[in-house]
Amino acid sequence: MEKTVKVGLLGLGVVGTGVLEILADHQEKIKKSIGASLVVSKALIRPGEDKSALAKKYNLELVTELEAILADPEIAIVVEVMGRIEPARTFIKKALLSGKHVVTANKDLLAQYGSELVDLARDQQRNLYYEASVAGGIPILRTIANSLAADDITEVLGIVNGTTNYMLTKMVQEHRTYEETLKEAQELGFAESDPTNDVDGIDAAYKMVILSKFAFGMTVTMDQVKIKGIRGLAAEDVSMADRLGYTVKLIGSTIKKDDSISVEVGPVLVAHHHPLASIHNEMNAVFIKSSGIGESMYYGPGAGSRPTATSIVADLMTIVNKMKKNTVGHRFTGYTQPTKITPPTENISKYFLSLEMPDEHGQFLKLAEIMSQAEVGFEQVVQEKGDGAHARVVLITHATSETKLATIQQAIKEKTKYKLLSLMKVMGE
Ligand SMILES: NC(=O)c1ccc[n+]([C@@H]2O[C@H](COP(=O)([O-])OP(=O)(O)OC[C@H]3O[C@@H](n4cnc5c(N)ncnc54)[C@H](OP(=O)(O)O)[C@@H]3O)[C@@H](O)[C@H]2O)c1
Repeated sequence: MEKTVKVGLLGLGVVGTGVLEILADHQEKIKKSIGASLVVSKALIRPGEDKSALAKKYNLELVTELEAILADPEIAIVVEVMGRIEPARTFIKKALLSGKHVVTANKDLLAQYGSELVDLARDQQRNLYYEASVAGGIPILRTIANSLAADDITEVLGIVNGTTNYMLTKMVQEHRTYEETLKEAQELGFAESDPTNDVDGIDAAYKMVILSKFAFGMTVTMDQVKIKGIRGLAAEDVSMADRLGYTVKLIGSTIKKDDSISVEVGPVLVAHHHPLASIHNEMNAVFIKSSGIGESMYYGPGAGSRPTATSIVADLMTIVNKMKKNTVGHRFTGYTQPTKITPPTENISKYFLSLEMPDEHGQFLKLAEIMSQAEVGFEQVVQEKGDGAHARVVLITHATSETKLATIQQAIKEKTKYKLLSLMKVMGE
């Protein structure tokens, strides 16, 4: 094998630049580990983009046509760090069909078209690696695929979106509002000007789809994930949860029950003593329950130029090792099982409900009746003094099914004048 393995980079933004830095800074160690140098020889940019300073610094050729990389027989691996679905999907397919191995950090693409790309890579006997697509700098996919391969995982809970974790940390610790913390996250560059994918839970859902494949071998589609974000979350409910012994976190979960799984993203009340409650600011963590190891948690930066690029370069090194041994073409994870989603009747949790109700005699009794008819008990109830006309009632239910919870919601809507201010799962007892 050549002593230098050449790489083509698609996109020279935050992560692309990080890849150049990590390769330059750690080249000696890389060479000693894999017995070859890894060099980015060409980078694809948009026509008119000025990246000449980077090209000079890292001694690479800038190109504006994908063909210039695909037709170069010296380039063995393509790294896609442009983001979004198109043209990334087409470019990756073309790269695989041209005989290149591919590394990508693109969670949007993997969550929606992962099977298609994984199958194509396999058909072409090429490797497709994407460690950086989940929790940036935390090596979680490789850990699940390799280190936990012999274990039986039952639960994967993740704080896998740094933007929302930063916002929630500020809401809890500094008693700030959703709007204030979003503005601050945008000013600091954690949140984009259109924060939809972060605050509505979509980004976290992409990552949970990928984690479900690794942990349970199941191919879950985005419409099978129950997704709720933190948009508009009331500061009062975050404070109340704190008083009741819980920290509100945006949790992505994929949980196995018998032979089915439930995949969700939503704001969750996490008990103060649970390890995930201590993950602050923009940091990420993935908490795993398995029958062999028990409980384990993997913590680190979920984004950022160098952490993400470190995962990408580790993927490049894995591919070079496989090229050396002539063992290319295996999937990142070979674990496959029939996909089965847990029905709502079997999906059991405690819930936190925050209600605004008319401050009138008999209102609370009505709530008790609704709960009793649905056969759901109260674990904690707090009534707060309101504005005179309304009272705020917060309750935590006993463990119940999603079906029974839906009955309660329906009855509140049809039989009362209550306003449901927020509804969150409760975990970590
Ligand atoms: N940033 C992180 O911390 C992080 C962490 C984990 C995963 N990721 C993933 O890594 C990928 C890259 O993220 P990033 O933060 O580096 O994004 P970024 O800073 O926006 O960089 C992407 C670069 O690719 C360019 N590009 C897009 N389409 C192109 C095309 N058709 N031809 C040539 N260049 C094109 C963009 O140019 P324009 O700006 O002109 O569009 C931009 O310069 C995404 O999939 C992201 O989800 C990022």
